[in-house]
Amino acid sequence: MSNEILGEALPFDEKIVLKSWAHRNVSEQEYLEYHRKSVENFKESWESVAKELEWFTPWEKVMEETQNKNVYKWFVGGTTNISYLSLDRHVKTWRRHKVAYIWEGEPVDDQGRPKEVRKYTYYDLWREVNRVAYAMKTKLGLKKGDRIAIYLPMIPELPIVMLAAARLGVIFTVIFSGFTAENIASRVNDLNATLIFTADGVYRRGKILKLKEIVDQSLNLTPSVKRVIVVRRLGGEVQLGQRDVLLEELLRDVPSNAYVEPERMESNETLYVLYTSGTTGKPKGMIHDHGGYATLLHATMKWVFDARDDDVYFCTADIGWVTGHSYIVFGPLIEGLTSILYEGTLDTPAPDRWWSIVERYGVTILYTSPTGVRTLMKFGEDYVKKHDLSTLRVIHSVGEPINPSAWRWLFQVVGNGRAPVGSTWWMTETGGIMISHLPGLMLVPMKPGTNGYPLPGVEADVLDESGNPVRPGERGYLVLKNPWPGMPAAPTGIWGDHERYVKTYWSKYPGLFYAGDYAVKDKDGYIWVAGRADEVMKVSGHRIGTYELESVLVSHRAVSEAAVIGVPDQVKGEVPIAYVVLKVGNQPSEEMRKELMDWIRNNYGPIGLPKALFFVTKLPKTRSGKIMRRLIRSVATNSPLGDITSLEDVGSVDEVKQAYDEFVKSIK
Ligand code: WT7
Repeated sequence: MSNEILGEALPFDEKIVLKSWAHRNVSEQEYLEYHRKSVENFKESWESVAKELEWFTPWEKVMEETQNKNVYKWFVGGTTNISYLSLDRHVKTWRRHKVAYIWEGEPVDDQGRPKEVRKYTYYDLWREVNRVAYAMKTKLGLKKGDRIAIYLPMIPELPIVMLAAARLGVIFTVIFSGFTAENIASRVNDLNATLIFTADGVYRRGKILKLKEIVDQSLNLTPSVKRVIVVRRLGGEVQLGQRDVLLEELLRDVPSNAYVEPERMESNETLYVLYTSGTTGKPKGMIHDHGGYATLLHATMKWVFDARDDDVYFCTADIGWVTGHSYIVFGPLIEGLTSILYEGTLDTPAPDRWWSIVERYGVTILYTSPTGVRTLMKFGEDYVKKHDLSTLRVIHSVGEPINPSAWRWLFQVVGNGRAPVGSTWWMTETGGIMISHLPGLMLVPMKPGTNGYPLPGVEADVLDESGNPVRPGERGYLVLKNPWPGMPAAPTGIWGDHERYVKTYWSKYPGLFYAGDYAVKDKDGYIWVAGRADEVMKVSGHRIGTYELESVLVSHRAVSEAAVIGVPDQVKGEVPIAYVVLKVGNQPSEEMRKELMDWIRNNYGPIGLPKALFFVTKLPKTRSGKIMRRLIRSVATNSPLGDITSLEDVGSVDEVKQAYDEFVKSIK
């Protein structure tokens, strides 16, 4: 179990060097030497990157720890604005009329061509962002420090609203459009947001998803919300309540040349808060800032993606997750790239949608996910071979470990053995990529499934329980040893909860950032992140706390207790499995199972649906009453139970095992 991903052994010794690759191939030693110098002077290394951006006023100090422990400020006193860096800077140059976004809606015509395509040049985008910022400021009275929520799908208005808010210094939180009313409410309430941007709906997998209705449901639970601004994506009539206004109405008399001076943001002032799941409690609002965050994005766009002016860049993620914030919105725009924005799913109308996009726009850089790759692998190579993908020159994946065979498929079938393929490790907390191959800087030999070396300036290690580095090839816990720009920002790292920030990330190993991941370092020093080490699942790359699903289950009238674990899945990487104890007076039945599945779908969202839900009369617990998920997982993964001395009732394990065995039989 330890040194494998989805049952495939980690190929520590398989080295692949791209002979034809146009950039600098280096040996491991050469990179390690360069890396050593960069971490010795990590502040200076990052400072030299920051200098490549534009600042309204320079910083006084590169980095300092704040009075809040483990919260660090970067480029202290320097002022900039990420909306300025993303737009104004290009509008002043020849890039003014370069295409920033090509947006494609999901629906296609009888010929299979997208019904709607919109292109925005940097100038168009700058204009739109200014108009929206103008309306936000003059009509909605929003100002620096105010908080808003954005519940928009993958349509151009999403980045436009994000950039407009950034321009004003209005703090935003984007809520993934697959989330439910409860998810919206908890985030809005934590942030005390006064306004929500949403859309009437979105096309997804050929169906219409009505987003405004979900926002309406959430409004009963969110007293702070005064206005709802609705983007019309579907085009029909929209039911408007007292609080609601259409974005188009709001913009109707805003002049086309409206201009809003970008707010001068001190480098460490808040850009956005993005919620992510942990082991316990409600999702954590990770804070990201303007200056340090922009610096990390600029560095990684150059080093990891080798971004150049003639590239066409396609990141297949959703902007609702951090990948989209950093690598669909801010990163590519800061570099002045042309990017693809795609509304829908990868298999609509057929499982070659991504490849059709790559071919039609001549995509050169692809950033995608292991789950996406594994899904498409199942449909066979013909869907790929049908399209000319010869423009692709850099490919990376993100979100979860990539198993060697999925890596090989990306490398051989998609990239035709010509493009470097990497697996970039990072997390919502880090703001940007931390461990990755660096084809834009120097490329060490690739290995199928590895993350590679930490970036220049980033020092990572793999430690055992007591904090000593593990031996090469052994599994341990991944840590980051130095602060980095883009890290959770001032004042508290986690919105409103500094204590939780310190406890979650900086307490297992004082002074080191604990990521919560298992990792292996091989004898060449390459890092292989092998999965979460805590009670967090990665389901299709989405981060879900087992605790969150358990809370949803026990909030059902018939449920007394619930335990959720993640088990490996050949496509989704991991999937939840739920064990439920019903309250006295309720009987297990197919109807009850269906009711609980619907309950999860409606109260958490479809991404949290368990692969199986079992009824048991008791859960394995310690004598002190803690659910022993470790045991449940051992049963479900057929591995040794290990130490069961603290188990209160041995019969509970038998029951969990029996339920699982019956399930396995039923799906065979
Ligand atoms: C967790 C963070 C990073 C943006 C999307 C996910 C896992 C992420 C990799 C990778 C192995 C990976 C880790 C991490 N993860 N990328 N390339 N190889 N694992 O952000 O939702 O905050 O999740 O995703 O477990 O801790 P996130």
